Amino acid sequence: MKLAIAGKGGSGKTSISGTMARLLARSGHRVLAIDGDSNPNLALTLGIAAERMSDMPVLPSNLLRRTEAGPVLTHSLEEIKTSHSVTGPDGVELLVMAHPQHADTGCLCSMHATVRRIIEAASDEDRDVCILDTEASPEHLSRGTASYADVMLAVVEPYFKSLETGRRMAALANDLGLERVALVANKIRDERELDAVHTFAANHDLEIAAAIPWDETFSLAERAGIAPLDYNPDSPAIEPIRILAENWGGNGRA
Ligand SMILES: Nc1ncnc2c1ncn2[C@@H]1O[C@H](COP(=O)(O)OP(=O)(O)OP(=O)(O)O)[C@@H](O)[C@H]1O
Ligand SMILES: [Mg+2]
Repeated sequence: MKLAIAGKGGSGKTSISGTMARLLARSGHRVLAIDGDSNPNLALTLGIAAERMSDMPVLPSNLLRRTEAGPVLTHSLEEIKTSHSVTGPDGVELLVMAHPQHADTGCLCSMHATVRRIIEAASDEDRDVCILDTEASPEHLSRGTASYADVMLAVVEPYFKSLETGRRMAALANDLGLERVALVANKIRDERELDAVHTFAANHDLEIAAAIPWDETFSLAERAGIAPLDYNPDSPAIEPIRILAENWGGNGRA
């Protein structure tokens, strides 16, 4: 299964995709996590130690070769993983999209194209899951980076601008032809907030894949520099994220 996690800035994309990746790996899946944010920080949520961040490999921009049929990867995904991935706790493999090292270095079009081909090359086998954590803009959808994903989950907070961003991203994902598209309600503090998301979703004919409560574990874990799952595996958000991961990313047989 190949999933793209999208949503407005700060909605919880990285917290949810990183925690889903770990939980899917624990339930027996082979997980490839791709940090597609030009300001990457998925490693921390996966539980990769901060000391390893400085020498973390990033995907170089010369992994594509032009052909008449369009750009293709110059190496197999296995080779790319061998040379550029980092393996974190529970065996999750992480690939990080190159990010601008200096100001005024131009656009990241070639990186988006590279990530698109990597997702295309990722295995479709039942045990394999590929999770793309995207940046806050709709770039991954408008550039088609996520076009080879099977599923797009738009993480939304229970306020209008966030919901509206999720709706727009869901429409783009539908345009790209993704098979399954849904909202994930995050940071839900009470019934009233949950109702607001349900009403919005019903009005726009959108599915809600999960409702994840407000959980201070995420910010406490971040401050402590460790993964939320390692900080408090019993915190209230973990179980709904586990069910979300199994229902939308898992094969139910792992
Ligand atoms: N369920 C939750 N309850 C409380 N806080 C949360 C929850 N989910 C995420 N957070 C907090 O919200 C903030 C943003 O989370 P995160 O970095 O995962 O969002 P993001 O969508 O990936 O952000 P960005 O757009 O910057 O990539 C973090 O401080 C995180 O700890
Ligand atoms: Mg993020």
